[in-house]
Amino acid sequence: MENRKAMVIGAGQMGAGIAQVLASASYNVVLYDLDTQALQRGINKIETSLKKAVQKEKIKEDEMNETLARIQDTTSLSNGDDADIVIEAIVENLEVKKEVFKKLDQIVKKEAILASNTSALSITELGAVTKRPEKVIGMHFMNPVPVMKLVEVIRGLSTSEETYQEIKRITESLGKVPVLVEDFPGFVSNRILMPMINEAIYTLYEGIASKEAIDEVMKLGMNHPMGPLQLADFIGLDTCLFIMEVLHEGFGDDKYRPCPLLKQYVKGGYLGYKVKRGFYEYE
Ligand code: CAA
Ligand code: NAD
Repeated sequence: MENRKAMVIGAGQMGAGIAQVLASASYNVVLYDLDTQALQRGINKIETSLKKAVQKEKIKEDEMNETLARIQDTTSLSNGDDADIVIEAIVENLEVKKEVFKKLDQIVKKEAILASNTSALSITELGAVTKRPEKVIGMHFMNPVPVMKLVEVIRGLSTSEETYQEIKRITESLGKVPVLVEDFPGFVSNRILMPMINEAIYTLYEGIASKEAIDEVMKLGMNHPMGPLQLADFIGLDTCLFIMEVLHEGFGDDKYRPCPLLKQYVKGGYLGYKVKRGFYEYE
């Protein structure tokens, strides 16, 4: 889209995917992470994904090279100070995100929109730590970003109509479908999805069935593309736990209590597909 500049904060599974779709839609993208190895992994992931698209003849090699050339990786936030839009996709922790939003507010030009890809946290609270809460919004992409059509757009208490309209337009320019929701824990997507995943983990914890059986029931019986335990691994068990904690704290209802088995896996470093072990092991 017309030489506009975007900065993506966090080069993990989501940040890399978001950078890829922005660059594919002609945005100049600055991809930032604290961790240089994570940054390199993010760039490698984008390259692999685009090479597959070339192999499948979905894009030409020239297009791949042009897309890659539009992405600049950096460990310095100031490289994105002239961005028109910033999309934050770091760890699902409110305090850490607040610190990043405070810094972004000081560094990035004042007209820019600051969006968060948070799965469940309050957009209103993120906006409140900045001097531009009217320009703070939730832009919740789904994993894997290049494939999934939905972007859940979350309006905080102070988000302006102008900001919402701009994010709607940007989402559509990426070939995605924006769906507007209000700012309550887990929004719509994770308020519905995550209790199902947590219940699947309780089902395993209580010995009702094996992990394979639980996943098979939901794949063959409900036509889900992935079983809930496989999906939890795919999302990241740390992220699943953070989301359940936000729901539990936000609604105060015991039905959102994270399963002890989920907590144990996270404590043990079994974070799912991104570390090659979770409920399952991966090559
Ligand atoms: N990047 C780019 N493309 C990818 C990809 C990736 N990471 N993973 C898969 N694809 C593409 C493949 O290249 C393939 O493309 P073609 O059809 O053009 O060949 C297509 O997606 C299908 O992939 P596969 O044939 O390899 O595998 P599949 O049919 O099993 O589909 C899947 C893979 C799309 C991931 C599918 O299993 C699926 O939809 N799973 C559920 C995903 C889901 O529920 N996501 C939401 C998670 S919740 C969330 O994101 C919100 C949150 O806050 C936690
Ligand atoms: P991830 O663990 O794959 O990546 C997070 C990245 O953020 C890492 O590279 C890490 O180095 C970096 N990071 C952490 N703190 C940072 C900081 N202060 N500054 C800069 N970089 C920092 O996580 P992910 O799965 O990509 O999730 C990122 C965000 O997207 C979370 O808010 C998550 O809830 C949300 N989300 C995740 C999914 C999913 O399926 N995984 C789907 C939608 C939304």
